[in-house]
Amino acid sequence: CGIVAYVGAQDAAPILLDGLARLEYRGYDSAGLAVVGKGGLRVCKKKGRIAELAAAVPSRFRGTTGIGHTRWATHGEPNDENAHPHVSEAGRFAVVHNGIIENAGDLRAKLEADGVKLTSETDSEVLVHLIAAQSASGLSLEDSVRAALNQVVGTYGIAVVDGEQPGVVVVARNGSPVVLGIGEKEMFAASDVAAVVRYTRQIVHLDDGELAVVRAGGFSTFTLDARAVTKQPSTAEAAAADYDTGGFQHFLGKEIHEQPAAILRTLSGRLDERFSTAHLGGLNLSAREARDFKRVKILGCGSAYYAGGIGAQLIEDLARIPAHAEPASEFRYRNPVIESDTLYIAVSQSGETYDTLAAVHEINRKGGTTLGVVNTVGSAIARACSGGMYLHAGPEISVTSTKSFTCTAVAFALIALHFGRVHDLSPADGRRITEALRALPEKIERILEDEEHIASLAREYAEHESLMFVGRVRGYPAAREGAQKLKELSYIHAEAYPASELKHGPLALIGPELPTLAVVPDDELLEKNLSTLGEIRARQGRILVIGHSAPDAKLAQDVILVPRSEPELDPILLGIPMQIFAYHAALALGRDIDKPRNLAKSVTVE
Ligand code: G6P
Repeated sequence: CGIVAYVGAQDAAPILLDGLARLEYRGYDSAGLAVVGKGGLRVCKKKGRIAELAAAVPSRFRGTTGIGHTRWATHGEPNDENAHPHVSEAGRFAVVHNGIIENAGDLRAKLEADGVKLTSETDSEVLVHLIAAQSASGLSLEDSVRAALNQVVGTYGIAVVDGEQPGVVVVARNGSPVVLGIGEKEMFAASDVAAVVRYTRQIVHLDDGELAVVRAGGFSTFTLDARAVTKQPSTAEAAAADYDTGGFQHFLGKEIHEQPAAILRTLSGRLDERFSTAHLGGLNLSAREARDFKRVKILGCGSAYYAGGIGAQLIEDLARIPAHAEPASEFRYRNPVIESDTLYIAVSQSGETYDTLAAVHEINRKGGTTLGVVNTVGSAIARACSGGMYLHAGPEISVTSTKSFTCTAVAFALIALHFGRVHDLSPADGRRITEALRALPEKIERILEDEEHIASLAREYAEHESLMFVGRVRGYPAAREGAQKLKELSYIHAEAYPASELKHGPLALIGPELPTLAVVPDDELLEKNLSTLGEIRARQGRILVIGHSAPDAKLAQDVILVPRSEPELDPILLGIPMQIFAYHAALALGRDIDKPRNLAKSVTVE
């Protein structure tokens, strides 16, 4: 979900709509606006995309103060009633909310007992009625918001307007980001800098438990118990161009092509030539502490989890520490055993995924050590961890992750190298890896040059209803992410299996109708992989190999060749053609590339 707010001299609606369009990647099943003008509060909300909302906003929707929201439904189906802003009974106050109100059930019951009629099924709606009730008892807008939030258990980023008070917006944050954007006699607020960088790069990040009163001329910040706090503005790292497709047809294409530059940023300042290791001060671990961990557990959701699978393999390979990746969403529900000699690593592009954050909180509560591998600086997951590393991949807008996936794998290579060099990885092997890491961007450029060939294969394979992806050991997490990309982007059914497991079940599916995409690096497992291809061919399954050399034409009809790296790092390169493949399969099928159906970029709810 995304929130945006404006207060200044201009008409708010077009600015809010533009901000929402830039947040749309965070959720896009319903959206709404509220503006305060001479006639008081006006609200327009709609199921569907921002473009549908824009078309529905009446031409006389005037007001220079306003708030907006784009939603990804969790509680309550996407419809006009459940869309934000939510409005108080007398139509005076409006609220937009990101996050979850955990005690919404109790609060609803209390409000209903007081005779309030709730009109939506959302947890968010209680906020506006609580604020209205406080205001009715004589409190100012700011104090009403504060008093309402003090009754709430849960996470929120909110923006509130009062129809009787043009020129002021109150925002507050707890666990769901809120930034202020400082303009010339105008102010912006949003859940993500994406919505404001077109207007200003002077940004203030609110911290959890803070509230701001925002007017055209400036802002004041407070804690929830009304103590004033001074906030220093900073200049946003991201530029407006990061949120444009920049000559590409889609963000996805742009982000796939940005990978060489993004990896350079992940590596920047972190390779230590002298000791053939990685310098990772942000982990906040001494060499002694790094040595003492007996196991590594990596947690993430979706692509972050699959990238964690590559990470686990790298850590085992290079540092010889047992490492395992698990979906954070499962881990948090199974009363996990937390051990003091296990290092936990949370992976997240957004740094906001609720399931991953909840897993980190559970580990912290039980006294475990958690590091974050996160793209978004200052995000909730980054802050909940005792150390970690930022990817510096730059903003990723397309819902389907590409550059952040690859940069996460590179970040894990650095972590594995760092841990390896305090264990038994020799200086020579350290050098082998540092040199191979440096060479990755140029090798990715070479894969990108093969785009037209990969695209033509994708168009052919897109005619199938289903695809099997296989990989063995290092190739398996890469195959899983390849299948994930194809599902998300093209809606073609895809299943990833360890190549070794094919014969234990799924081989029953193989035939001319079900082609296989096989990840086959030239490593110590090549022969084993070729025999799997033989099993598939014996059942007339068509095979597309992604690897370092073309197998016998009898085994594979189609081949995408990828430059070699070091075996440990090969999965990073083997993943790139699968991104391009999924992109072009989706293009051939006319899919909504940057906003696949039913998905959102950050899932900040359970
Ligand atoms: C959502 C997205 C996925 C993403 C996952 C984890 O489900 O649709 O593409 O991989 O969240 O996101 P994170 O921001 O934690 O990496």
